[in-house]
Amino acid sequence: MINQIERYLEEVKTFTTKDLKEVEAFRIKFLSKKGILNQLFAEFKNVPNNEKRIYGQKINLLKQAATEKVKQLKEKLENAVEENASELDLTRPGYPVEIGSRHPISIVKNQIIDIFKHIGFNVSEGPEIEDDWHNFTALNLPEYHPARDMQDTFFLQKNPDWLLRTHTSSVQTRYMEAHKPPIRTISPGRVYRNEDISARSHCIFHQVEGLYIDKGVSFADLKQTLLYFTKEMFGKSKIRLRPSYFPFTEPSAEVDIYWGLKTETDYRITKGTGWLEIMGAGMVDPNVLKNMEIDPGVYTGFAFGMGIERIAMLLYQIPDIRMFYENDMRFLSQFKPVV
Ligand code: DAH
Repeated sequence: MINQIERYLEEVKTFTTKDLKEVEAFRIKFLSKKGILNQLFAEFKNVPNNEKRIYGQKINLLKQAATEKVKQLKEKLENAVEENASELDLTRPGYPVEIGSRHPISIVKNQIIDIFKHIGFNVSEGPEIEDDWHNFTALNLPEYHPARDMQDTFFLQKNPDWLLRTHTSSVQTRYMEAHKPPIRTISPGRVYRNEDISARSHCIFHQVEGLYIDKGVSFADLKQTLLYFTKEMFGKSKIRLRPSYFPFTEPSAEVDIYWGLKTETDYRITKGTGWLEIMGAGMVDPNVLKNMEIDPGVYTGFAFGMGIERIAMLLYQIPDIRMFYENDMRFLSQFKPVV
């Protein structure tokens, strides 16, 4: 009896086939109602008592092996059918590729870069952790200069000579150290100020700095460049230059663009005036040129610095600056490129 079961076990172990029908025949032979296993179970009562234990173990083993074999072969053969080339539909359209979206700050930044590239500006970058010299002193803002208070600064605790740059003007000084005039460069980047966060201001934001230094550069060049930029960027060039003060430029101006008051967001962003200040600008102060070992008797230049968020808020009608940094997919997915 036991020997017979051993033979069945051997048969189950070695059985293999590539035909699903044969698997079914195998299943019927061993596992169906009238199959070998049920017969063996029925025999159990006739087995002498001293063999019952070993007999029981063997048939359970046989049942497990047969069940497992049927399962394995079925899985194998059914998958093979799916992989079969004749089942492959090459005309089926592919799964759509999910296209991500650019952040509105990046979109506007790239637009600004493109506009200035057209008139010969290159792109330069500098570090966000900056030293006092490049962020302040070299820009005609010596220690204890009251104008340092214009920008609330995050200092690095361990060494107050290091800080998070408060403006991208720091890249101007780095660029002038490394390059001789003529210089035409724009520097986009992230800047930091220790300011309360509200719908209109944030402690992190983005700027694009511009610097143009050559022989005979005048304020008229600055104005024409700004007119060109606003026309390209906004499709309109109604701007005004308000006299202002920056330590690194003389004379200095703040530049407003007339945007209009068509929507509620326009009212909010422009504080109900239709005008929005988009940048600071001016003729590079001779002291800055001297600090950079450029002879102000030979060279002159202009500089400007604009906030990217402000411009993006106008263009995309975004009422709250905090939305840029919240990474809310519902907000971000609206800026998908049009394909
Ligand atoms: N750095 C100034 C700021 O963050 C902006 C600025 C004003 C930049 C005048 C300039 C400039 O290059 O000439 O407020």
